[in-house]
Amino acid sequence: MDLRGRSAVITGAGHGIGRAIALALGKAGANVAVADIDEAAAEAVAKEVADLGVQSLAARVDVAREQDVVDLADRAFAAFGSVEVLVNNAGIIPDSRKLWQFGAEDFDWCFAVNVRGVMNGIRAFVPRFVASDSPAWVVNTGSEHSLGIPHLRAGIYTASKHAVLGLSDVLKRELPPHIGVSVLCPGIVDTTLWRATERRQDDHGGRAPADPAAASVMQHGLPAEVVGQKVREAIEQEHFFILTHPHVVKFARERWEAIEAAFSHQAPRYDGDEDFDVTNIARKVRDAKR
Ligand SMILES: NC(=O)c1ccc[n+]([C@@H]2O[C@H](COP(=O)([O-])OP(=O)(O)OC[C@H]3O[C@@H](n4cnc5c(N)ncnc54)[C@H](O)[C@@H]3O)[C@@H](O)[C@H]2O)c1
Repeated sequence: MDLRGRSAVITGAGHGIGRAIALALGKAGANVAVADIDEAAAEAVAKEVADLGVQSLAARVDVAREQDVVDLADRAFAAFGSVEVLVNNAGIIPDSRKLWQFGAEDFDWCFAVNVRGVMNGIRAFVPRFVASDSPAWVVNTGSEHSLGIPHLRAGIYTASKHAVLGLSDVLKRELPPHIGVSVLCPGIVDTTLWRATERRQDDHGGRAPADPAAASVMQHGLPAEVVGQKVREAIEQEHFFILTHPHVVKFARERWEAIEAAFSHQAPRYDGDEDFDVTNIARKVRDAKR
């Protein structure tokens, strides 16, 4: 999809990967709505985008709140006339702990932002994309943890990023042909993700100091600009997976090999096994009712 003259809405664009995507899409000639829970950061990035010679707007949005995201869609469509690209990028990571040491509030916060936030974006924008004839694109930010890296002490985050892959995989098959989907699956990127608790909403426990030890790990990550550029290229070249860290293939392959070995041992294929393919069953039931 050619980005020139298009308009994009990017959540979590006040810092890190979202900011880098905003600048990359702005450089490609797209107008950009910079949405973030950190309003001052959104305004600063919107200014950087405007300096590229395209239109921009800044919006304070909590992606976990459906009405915030609906209002964002209304504002962006009104300001730009249309929107063709949605990047559901806002995300957080709870403190590092073993799975059984997390509280229910950590789970609720992580899924409210990382998963319901993506759903809120899909619900607010996709019906408008479907109603229009213009080509449109949705990018959802997952992670290497969507693909099979079992990140110790980040079990809830890992589960939330698997959910983002699941949503994206189904969405891709449900959409009409003029709308595409990508799922961004980066490894470690040098961003402010380690400061997530400093921006936590009051209804999820409020702000808390971040662990500076996490900063010293994250600063060894890939520069966010590299990821922003990859997202631009994936939209232009219409790719589903957006991959940034080559070594991750090793973990994805390990997972697949374990699944394949388990199948060949426990459930080897036989002629007619597709009688239990749920898609085939649903089609047969539908056809019988016609
Ligand atoms: N940095 C990494 O190593 C890495 C790796 C894989 C995936 N990711 C994912 O990339 C995305 C961007 O994270 P990042 O690394 O740039 O971190 P970041 O903290 O630098 O950026 C995240 C942005 O989201 C905003 N945000 C947080 N909660 C929000 C909410 N409820 N509503 C709206 N905005 C909110 C923050 O203010 C911040 O500007 C996240 O989904 C993250 O899970 C990051």
